[in-house]
Amino acid sequence: MTSELLQKARDFEAQYGPHIPDSERPAFHATPTIGWMNDPNGFSFYQGECHLFYQYHPYSNEWGPMHWGHLKTKDFIRWERLPAALAPDRDYDAAGCFSGGAAELPDGRQLLMYTGVRRGHNAEGFLQDVQTQCVAIGDGVNYEKWGENPILDERNLPEGGSIVDFRDPKVWQDTDGSFYAVIGNRTADGSGAVLLYQSRDGLKWEFVRALDASRNQYGKMWECPDFFPLDGKQVLMTSPQDMNPVGLEFHAGNGTLCLIGDYDPQGKGFVRQHIQAIDYGIDFYAAQTLFAPDGRRIMVAWMQNWDTAGAKPHHCRWFGQMTLPRELSIRNGRLYQNPVRELENYRDCCVIHRNIPVCGEINLPGVQGRVLDMTVTVRPNGTEPYRWFRIRVAKDGEHETIIRYRPSNGTLKIDRTRSGLPRDIVHTRSFLVRPQDGAIKLRIILDRFSVEVFVNDGEQAATTVIYTRQSADAITFEAGGSVLIDVEKYDLAFDGPEMET
Ligand code: FRU
Repeated sequence: MTSELLQKARDFEAQYGPHIPDSERPAFHATPTIGWMNDPNGFSFYQGECHLFYQYHPYSNEWGPMHWGHLKTKDFIRWERLPAALAPDRDYDAAGCFSGGAAELPDGRQLLMYTGVRRGHNAEGFLQDVQTQCVAIGDGVNYEKWGENPILDERNLPEGGSIVDFRDPKVWQDTDGSFYAVIGNRTADGSGAVLLYQSRDGLKWEFVRALDASRNQYGKMWECPDFFPLDGKQVLMTSPQDMNPVGLEFHAGNGTLCLIGDYDPQGKGFVRQHIQAIDYGIDFYAAQTLFAPDGRRIMVAWMQNWDTAGAKPHHCRWFGQMTLPRELSIRNGRLYQNPVRELENYRDCCVIHRNIPVCGEINLPGVQGRVLDMTVTVRPNGTEPYRWFRIRVAKDGEHETIIRYRPSNGTLKIDRTRSGLPRDIVHTRSFLVRPQDGAIKLRIILDRFSVEVFVNDGEQAATTVIYTRQSADAITFEAGGSVLIDVEKYDLAFDGPEMET
């Protein structure tokens, strides 16, 4: 039975969503039907189709009582809109259906597992959330909340765990047939941990163990965890709140954390060996992965950050985008990420320039645009080192988004100061990169409102949202000193309606 609240959301999005013209949206990044979007939820295959749910407040471009919006895709590039899946319509989730995951049940139905938030008063009379885990079961479009919700509450927490910060179950069925879920939790020391739970049927759950914890070292509450094997290693991902910067690896605020290690379920559990940021740009949070039937581990994230999400164009009718889904792998003990290969099916108008000397600022014939896939390789021209190299994209007389490499200190910097967001928020981010044989390779994916940079075949990624007017489509290359560059540029072309509705 569709509740009144869910029906209201479905009617609202059906009535007003189509008023937003395709030209106001990104060409291939997922956006909400209308209103506000944050975290990806339930990114998974169900009956052979890829579903992506999202944190959703259809009624305004601000965060509000959380619903789950719903999309489907055949190729991770083009998205089909489905009606909202969940509304905060029960006493146990009246303050929001927060983030979670999805899995296919053995009987062919789809399980959504999410955090139900209830608001009450604590002993001092202050408003306080109670967060429990809940499930809803459905057919890929309509879902019934389980009669015995919540299925995990304070009774299922380890000692010292907080019921105020207990959220974001990511669920999967493992090769042993059991369902598992990782859930973020605040620990007694005030920071965060990732808890593992197990279930035979997806409905009755038991606490297994804490997989890892911040111990006040890597931020506070660990939100939106994920846990999966990859290339012989085990990866634990989470998005910590209140990070302190560590060199150029982690920045202050809402960060992203990838822990790579080994996992022995019967013995020591998860043992971390390497720690890194997932994305080194500005707008990336709450990443979630799926395991595709063809064996790929694919990640998507909210292409925003809480610290910058308050800055948006006036009167925008949608707010929040997902990143381009990325294929993950581990090489040399590090996480690599590259755009899903399906993007290449949309390549058009190839322009190639090789061994172009740059000293001063140049543009190259055929290299411009706002929806494209461009790879630039930069190396010194001769034996003389160069001081810096810059690519400017989304450029006109007033605007530019700059990607700058400085070999002397090995930093890559993204600067969106002049990218259409006249607000005093974070506009630049720098991070350390590793040249290979003196060269640096940058794959730059532009969509109308974003720049995603993949460094050295996916060794690092940096993502930023831009709001530059679409007519600003020039691209230039500039060096302090002398470099040689190769440029391979493809437009990305989408025939027919850009979003199937
Ligand atoms: C992360 C997050 C989650 C929560 C959701 C609420 O961005 O704070 O922890 O479930 O957003 O919308």
